Amino acid sequence: MAIVSSIMCSGLKGELGRNNGLLVNFKEELQYFRSVTQGKSILFGHKTFKGLPSLKGRNIYVLTSQDNINYPNATVVKSVEEFLELTKDEEEVFIG
Ligand SMILES: NC(=O)c1ccc[n+]([C@@H]2O[C@H](COP(=O)([O-])OP(=O)(O)OC[C@H]3O[C@@H](n4cnc5c(N)ncnc54)[C@H](OP(=O)(O)O)[C@@H]3O)[C@@H](O)[C@H]2O)c1
Repeated sequence: MAIVSSIMCSGLKGELGRNNGLLVNFKEELQYFRSVTQGKSILFGHKTFKGLPSLKGRNIYVLTSQDNINYPNATVVKSVEEFLELTKDEEEVFIG
């Protein structure tokens, strides 16, 4: 099983987002996110995924309860367990 790492940018009170976007957009934070996750698999909640720009060089997984959802640039999963099963041979995966 892969090491499961969580990566986030939070406010001083643990805030994660606002209006379905990030609280802040710091260039250095985004560069750090890119460098740490490059070449790795990342699971995003469906709402987060829909607000993301294209993330090249990452294997993107989207968590949804809905049937018949497909994205050309991401693998859709119905549970965290499914994500972990699909990525079990990888060294480290991320929940973003
Ligand atoms: N600060 C950071 O680093 C950071 C990181 C990530 C996200 N965010 C922020 O977080 C906010 C979005 O978070 P959110 O909690 O509102 O939405 P979210 O987690 O991105 O998406 C929620 C959706 O994900 C699916 N989902 C979640 N848990 C599931 C489960 N156990 N099984 C199946 N599907 C599941 C459902 O999609 P369906 O409705 O399609 O079933 C649900 O409606 C945004 O503001 C975003 O910018 C911040």
